Amino acid sequence: MKRHTVVTMPGDGIGKVVLPEALRVLDAVGFEADYVPAEVGWQCWTQQGNALPQATIDLLAQHRLGLFGAITSKPKKAAEAELAPELKGKGHSYFSPIVALRQRFGLDVCIRPCRSFAGNPLNFIRKTASGGFEEPAVDAVIFRQNTEGMYAGIEWSDPPALVREALASHPKYKPFAAVAGADLAISVRVVTRSACRRICAAAFEYARKHGYRSVTVCEKPNVLRETSGLMEEVAKEVQREFSEIALWSTNIDAQMMWLTKNPEDYGVVVATNLFGDIASDAFAGLVGGLGFACSGNLGAEVAVFEPTHGSAPKYEQLEPSIVNPIAMILSAAMLLDHVGETQKAERVRAAVAAVVKAGTVRTYDMLRLPGGAGVVSKGAATTQQMTDAILAELR
Ligand code: NAI
Ligand code: MG
Repeated sequence: MKRHTVVTMPGDGIGKVVLPEALRVLDAVGFEADYVPAEVGWQCWTQQGNALPQATIDLLAQHRLGLFGAITSKPKKAAEAELAPELKGKGHSYFSPIVALRQRFGLDVCIRPCRSFAGNPLNFIRKTASGGFEEPAVDAVIFRQNTEGMYAGIEWSDPPALVREALASHPKYKPFAAVAGADLAISVRVVTRSACRRICAAAFEYARKHGYRSVTVCEKPNVLRETSGLMEEVAKEVQREFSEIALWSTNIDAQMMWLTKNPEDYGVVVATNLFGDIASDAFAGLVGGLGFACSGNLGAEVAVFEPTHGSAPKYEQLEPSIVNPIAMILSAAMLLDHVGETQKAERVRAAVAAVVKAGTVRTYDMLRLPGGAGVVSKGAATTQQMTDAILAELR
């Protein structure tokens, strides 16, 4: 069996808490891997002026497989204030290392599975006509374009004259032409055919491989005629190569309404960056929220897996830790899938499913308790106890 090398980037806050938990689970299923720790995050920023050190980039370029915890980002002024004194005024500017990683390695395909585990008290339920309740099984997998679109990062406050002149060539710019620069901010939504093709092809291939009957492209082509229009056009082209899979088209706003009406009707959903971000958070909310939301960022060569949640700094110092490790553990299962260890991945998911179903070990979020040091005395499992319960299922 091939031995893998995984670059581990715990990052900040609870990233440092949950990533080791995922490694315990990977060990328990017999994943043959060497782990190479790499620095990323806030301390790198304050001490080196760079949240994503070159050494970390080099390790990922070499090993091509990463597990990422979470990082802390702060607004521009706060970030600059925390820089080491000797680095201040030297032209360092903060950027999010996970966004930088996605762009540096072209991790343009983001996969976010949103599947409900039976017995999860956080699952979406709906009222039936007869006054009872039902709990539809949600099994949606969101494919989000990860590197361009609204998050391409091309934006200005007080745009330079050249930009304003170029925009003035568009008839719709007329009402904005007289707005003072200080009162004007512009973000550019850039969509390319090749990126649309890659994300749509990834979505359809996944649907084929896993037996989904439909792919839904979730955009707004009636208003964003050029960018969403291109995405929808490409989705239609790609669908021709997958005749057994239907292409549905929804608008992002309507999708947000429908997903609480009939979430079980959606399978694979594909969208550009911002709409994919919105759709994946919305679907994740139906299946347990941040404690369950896992993801993979896939490029042509490099892949990085991470929970969707951030560093939740207010829980970093809690001893024992109370945060839910499941999102991180499910992200590690996605890594197993990615390297072809599907049976091990299935074992991990089955163990998580069994613990959730048994319902005896639940972290504070699953009990709907406000987070804090007191949750353990109210019956919440600690982070380690949750992992231990999953490990017990694996034995
Ligand atoms: P967050 O995801 O860190 O936390 C929001 C809330 O969700 C927490 O206060 C907690 O109540 C809950 N939560 C998150 N993870 C949980 C878990 N595993 N188990 C149980 N409950 C959990 O988002 P927030 O507070 O908006 O941001 C905190 C920091 O994280 C910021 O600096 C932000 O920039 C960064 N962030 C980083 C991300 C990444 O690394 N990819 C993504 C989102 C935010
Ligand atoms: Mg998000």
